[in-house]
Amino acid sequence: MAARENWGSRFGFIMATAGSAVGLGNIWKFPYETGSNGGGAFLILYVIFVLVFGLSLVMAELLIGRTTQKNPIGAFRELGGRWWSPVGAMGIVAGFTILSFYIVVAGWTLAYLLAMISGDLSNGDPQHLSAKFGEFISDPYRPIAYAGLFMILTAGVVIGGIGQGIERAARLLMPALFILLLILVLRSVTLDGAGEGLRFFLLPDWSKVTGDTLSSAIGQAFFSLSLGMGALLTYGSYLPRDSKLPSAAATVVVLDTSVAILAGLMVLPAVFAFGFDPQAGPGLTFVTLPAVFAAMPGGQFFGVLFFALLAVAALTSAISLLETVVCYFVDERRANRRRVTLIAALISFVLGVPASLSLGIWSGFQVPGTSMSIFDFLDFTASSVMLPLGGLLTALFVGWKWGPQALSALSNEGEPRFALGPLWLLVLRYVAPLGIGWILLQAFV
Ligand code: PHE
Repeated sequence: MAARENWGSRFGFIMATAGSAVGLGNIWKFPYETGSNGGGAFLILYVIFVLVFGLSLVMAELLIGRTTQKNPIGAFRELGGRWWSPVGAMGIVAGFTILSFYIVVAGWTLAYLLAMISGDLSNGDPQHLSAKFGEFISDPYRPIAYAGLFMILTAGVVIGGIGQGIERAARLLMPALFILLLILVLRSVTLDGAGEGLRFFLLPDWSKVTGDTLSSAIGQAFFSLSLGMGALLTYGSYLPRDSKLPSAAATVVVLDTSVAILAGLMVLPAVFAFGFDPQAGPGLTFVTLPAVFAAMPGGQFFGVLFFALLAVAALTSAISLLETVVCYFVDERRANRRRVTLIAALISFVLGVPASLSLGIWSGFQVPGTSMSIFDFLDFTASSVMLPLGGLLTALFVGWKWGPQALSALSNEGEPRFALGPLWLLVLRYVAPLGIGWILLQAFV
């Protein structure tokens, strides 16, 4: 068998992993989830979940991948025997599910990029922008065509293999996105009336916290960190065995969380300044930002740049979703990379069609037994159920089944021991399973 492909450099690996983490989850999902879940309290819960569960589990997933150099199913089977391989399998299913609605929203970014370029969004009137967005997503064809286009782009990169492409793109574009966000935050917080939005985002109102808030916040933490479905495990499997993990994990977590907070500071003050509804749901970022662009000099330029960078950030995340699925079939089933990628992309696209329609002509339809649209149902099942459950099982696996051996796997030969290792193991044994388990129960009772 050919040697497994490795990342070109440590920096490249960190950028690619951050590229998986930073995406629509940060810029599209985080602001609207915060808006729908009462603001500041959601932000604080989210940050706590990232620090307490997220960091330890990012390390755990990367470590399983680095140690086994395998796909999620193969990795769990190698270290834990066949009873553990379903954890990897659930990850593959979650990957398909997320990809299906992810490409829908990613398609919106392409459409908005073109609309920015053509000057179609230059009228910054909030009502006009809301109406335009509503018209676009309820069109039965256009959003689906853009989702398809985005799926083709994603599949194209994945067919080429992880090599230089992902690394090179992520290296350049991630810093550019970061700087652009800073500029837009500055514009947003200095708008007239932005103060109310800042208070909403930063000051917690604990009376608004319910079981649903907890499960949305933990779902958001896992979704944003690409955690709980084997994407990080897969990226870790392309690491040489002697690379250091704790600092890489910390860098990715800090980058991802800062981008989410910046996105909140960019969107929410503007939501209040322009009189949008913070509870508007999935359209929030898309209706608000064009109003921000219209209110700044060079707005069209910044708008084009923004949607271009957002599309690339979405692409580097979608690649990791598809790569996880493809990696399994290529490794375990010796399938042809190209063929598997095309089939997986087609299945996700087909699943994405009802997700997109459920925001438009099918918006009256609710998934039986719930009060959710197809779009929300796919998101909820993947983000708030499958990902936390995958994380919980990963914590149990590393904490109890792999146990102290995981600690020696973490400190590579010749490396000094990781001083916080025992604490890390403690979190995986007790804190994460109990905490995540309790929140999952809340969602169902
Ligand atoms: N973390 C990505 C984002 O925030 C989404 C993602 C989830 C990617 C799970 C891979 C796995 O956009």
